[in-house]
Amino acid sequence: MQATTTDVQIRQLDTVDLGAVTTIDEKITGRYRPDEWERRVGYYLRRDPDAALVAEVDSEVVGFMLGEVRSGEFGLEEPTGWIEVLGVDPDRRGGAIGQRLAEALLDHFRVEGATTVRTLVDETMEDIAGFFSSLGFEPAPLRPFVKAL
Ligand SMILES: CC(C)(COP(=O)(O)OP(=O)(O)OC[C@H]1O[C@@H](n2cnc3c(N)ncnc32)[C@H](O)[C@@H]1OP(=O)(O)O)[C@@H](O)C(=O)NCCC(=O)NCCS
Repeated sequence: MQATTTDVQIRQLDTVDLGAVTTIDEKITGRYRPDEWERRVGYYLRRDPDAALVAEVDSEVVGFMLGEVRSGEFGLEEPTGWIEVLGVDPDRRGGAIGQRLAEALLDHFRVEGATTVRTLVDETMEDIAGFFSSLGFEPAPLRPFVKAL
């Protein structure tokens, strides 16, 4: 898929963006979850506000990406930037919005001292896998283990 560049501004997420983020998530997942996003956004803004970004086109929030730098987890000693939550408005896809968000977040991770960036992608989500592959991410030999509780 070829991304055509749109005039995109990247800036820090603000709590006033909650409605826009909730709407984008609803468009992607079909679920309206304002309380969940309030909790989630609050968590990321407390942890590392510079790693909570939104993309704007013509002053409209059209995408978001949340993450943080951590180290010493899962046997990974190096400071690692984790991309944990992302979404681009389905009506705006293919405009390099996700790419611009990722570039800005990776720049921040570098400033924070990260030498690696990681994310987790469900095997069934081929679109997200394709997106990260296009950005130069490769499958890693770190396997998630899971058990129902
Ligand atoms: C994955 C996602 C972030 C991509 O956003 P986007 O703005 O359309 O992506 P871009 O236009 O920046 O594309 C960047 C690169 O990724 C590639 N890419 C994007 N979507 C792709 C797809 N569905 N399949 C394969 N590659 C894809 C593009 O081709 C481009 O590569 P190129 O530069 O080599 O051409 C977006 O589709 C999305 O939000 N998906 C749903 C995420 C989700 O489910 N979140 C959970 C709910 S919050």
